[in-house]
Amino acid sequence: MALLDLLPDDAPLLRQLAAPVADPMAPEIHRLARDLAETMVAAGGRGIAAPQVGVALRMIHFAALGGVTTLCNPGYLPLSADLEGGFEGCLSLPGCRGTVPRWTRIAYWGITPEGCRVEREAAGMHARVVQHEVDHLLGILYPDRMAPDTPLLQLSALNQPEAAAGGASGGPADNPGDPGTGR
Ligand code: NI
Repeated sequence: MALLDLLPDDAPLLRQLAAPVADPMAPEIHRLARDLAETMVAAGGRGIAAPQVGVALRMIHFAALGGVTTLCNPGYLPLSADLEGGFEGCLSLPGCRGTVPRWTRIAYWGITPEGCRVEREAAGMHARVVQHEVDHLLGILYPDRMAPDTPLLQLSALNQPEAAAGGASGGPADNPGDPGTGR
């Protein structure tokens, strides 16, 4: 396992469409899955997407339901017409938080590196994390989803230590909904 470097927020790769994973069970995908997991934990995040570490593949890793999930080629559809605003951060935007509207209920799917197809329904924070991570595969960062009249907050301006907020690297944003989370 290895800790991977997170790209800076102005890296062009963060704005590109990620390519499908051709073989989710390939050894290099297993290795990437382990490295993503380790990097997410070290950064204090709740989710991470492969483009954030410079790999332009459709692969995400996130914590939910008391465990962690790695998915290749994930997708989702909203199950309700309701959007709900929630606080998000992102490992790619350390020190920032913003209120982002997300679907309150979704169905999502993907293939694990073990070759298992996952199909789940999710609500609340779980649904938020998945939407945030899948956005990374589309070259979308959460400020793109924020209403124009809502501010992107700096944790320092909030006098909120990053560590207390859930991660040294703006991490848990890959945790939406929780000021302490980065994805
Ligand atoms: Ni993120």
